[in-house]
Amino acid sequence: MPPRLTVLGNINLDFSLQVPHIPSKGENVIADGLDLVPGGKGANQAVAAARLGAEVVLIGCVGGDNYGRVLRKRLAQESVNVRFVETAEEAITGMAFVWVSQAEADNRIVSLLGANLTLTPQQIEQAHRAFERCDFFLVSLGVPEEAVNRAMQVAADCGVPALLDPAPLGKKPPQLWTSASVIVPNETEAARLAGQPVSDVSSALAAARRLAQRGIERIAITLGEKGCLLYDEEGARLISGFPVQAVDPTGAGDAFAAALAVRLAEEASLDEAATFANAAGALICTLRGAQPKADQFSRAKVEALLKKARRDKKPKVEPL
Ligand code: RIB
Repeated sequence: MPPRLTVLGNINLDFSLQVPHIPSKGENVIADGLDLVPGGKGANQAVAAARLGAEVVLIGCVGGDNYGRVLRKRLAQESVNVRFVETAEEAITGMAFVWVSQAEADNRIVSLLGANLTLTPQQIEQAHRAFERCDFFLVSLGVPEEAVNRAMQVAADCGVPALLDPAPLGKKPPQLWTSASVIVPNETEAARLAGQPVSDVSSALAAARRLAQRGIERIAITLGEKGCLLYDEEGARLISGFPVQAVDPTGAGDAFAAALAVRLAEEASLDEAATFANAAGALICTLRGAQPKADQFSRAKVEALLKKARRDKKPKVEPL
């Protein structure tokens, strides 16, 4: 039986601009091109999980505009169950403005949440059945905090483990959802959550220790091409990343979170799941857009990358 995932998060249209480099303060640069592509952390995670073999139900909101209709239809074409994706007729669909610099294999993102902000705790109640029936709940933060709180509560009541991707973090001091079974911050988010700087493996380890002291059971801090740092009752270790020719990191964290949830739902160990998730994140970085085409991002493609790395005696698990 395929693992069943319920996903809560935002749904956006990404305006992805290819830029020669990330502009510095006061700089005016000319873009090389623009792609209008589906995005949003919830949608990206739902699509990635479906491609990796899960049965996925997405809870989210789009606006009453044409973008909303197109994104909803596309999610359904990706075999994501959109029964609990509401249309907020008066709102505009969420949008994200992404700068992608191929030179630096880096990006910057500014989101306008639009209809994502109309998601209510009542919508979570209406999706109760999706929580009762799933193996894992995957949640990110581009939707109102009250809805996230209610969803974490419903997941806990249904005995469903939750994987929290604490992004995007808003202006307020971030909340710590200690009921999450595992959280997957990147370095910036780990720093915000722990309240201390994170710039390398040792500072990431210090932040993970701090989060563990504050009640988070399992932590996977993503570290880009270095891989990810795991921290749980077995201690800390670095799961090495996959060296790839990166062109666009947009959606890498989403693919990582989705892949980790899929493998944990399949009862893999945290180390195995994180290795698979690193491969999924690395694969997305080699492709343009957060939801690349099915022949580019699939379970078979992720497994092929893993197989090749194993032949080359990678990836490694390094105790810290
Ligand atoms: O994680 C990447 C996503 O963040 C983009 O697709 C964009 O929509 C923003 O929400």
